[in-house]
Amino acid sequence: MKKFAVFGNPINHSKSPYIHHLFAKQTGCALKYEAILASQDNFKESINLFFAKGAEGANITTPFKEEAYAISNELTDRAKLAGAVNTLKRKPDGSLLGDNTDGIGLVNDLQRLNMLVPQQRVLLVGAGGAARGVIKPLLDTAITLVITNRTFDKADYLAKLFSSYGNIEAHAMQNIENQQFDLIINATTTGLQKEIPLISPSLINSNTACYDMFYDKKLTPFLEWAKQQGANQCADGLGMLVGQAAHSFFLWHGIMPEITKTIMMLRKDIIK
Ligand code: ATR
Repeated sequence: MKKFAVFGNPINHSKSPYIHHLFAKQTGCALKYEAILASQDNFKESINLFFAKGAEGANITTPFKEEAYAISNELTDRAKLAGAVNTLKRKPDGSLLGDNTDGIGLVNDLQRLNMLVPQQRVLLVGAGGAARGVIKPLLDTAITLVITNRTFDKADYLAKLFSSYGNIEAHAMQNIENQQFDLIINATTTGLQKEIPLISPSLINSNTACYDMFYDKKLTPFLEWAKQQGANQCADGLGMLVGQAAHSFFLWHGIMPEITKTIMMLRKDIIK
């Protein structure tokens, strides 16, 4: 049977084995997909061992995406731009192709939710690895992207790095107070600490769509706050999670599974 796994730390709450087994059932692919806990000093060895034993692909999650980028023998263009790899595929000669499906997973989900329309002004909050991974696919949808971050220099660095790919500007958090955005995306790790990024409440009205790349059983802190400010259209990152998994599945098996049905099944499962 074809073997796959997700590597991360922590990894016990990963939904990837569940999602990939659902995809396998839907598409009639026989596969085994497990979750593997790696440590900072044995990530490379565990990956090499996994592929040496005949595995065909792996997903990589926090905190190893940059390391996976570094050990890839070849990179897709979107992985190069993201500076991180969330999907590895073993090629017939044994070498590893590194890809990044996070950005396309986000864009597909925003489109499914009718939250992304060309010419819109979109605010991306955060300038870490998660934010970097989604910038190019967002710019490809012909929106204007403003990036803001607690540490402005990181937002400024990313805006300069991606300036040739579309309309992108970096603004300090205190300088966006009087601006209007159609969509605000939270790409910070604040949800993990049950916090929210300190953006001005004046940015949100009933027409501002809000998306949190983080997801939880209940409304995330950012979305709860956005709702309190009057936002009507709010969504968390569960759909992005399924979308990135679907694009990894496609890279490995050449078949695109059903995303919407899987999101519904996963939602039912996590709120149990
Ligand atoms: P990831 O790879 O998940 O993006 P990361 O690279 O560590 O993780 O980036 C974390 C992001 O969340 C950064 O944008 C960080 O802001 P700083 O660059 O100023 O550190 C943001 N972040 C984390 N905690 C935050 C907080 N309490 N308030 C606002 N932003 C926060």
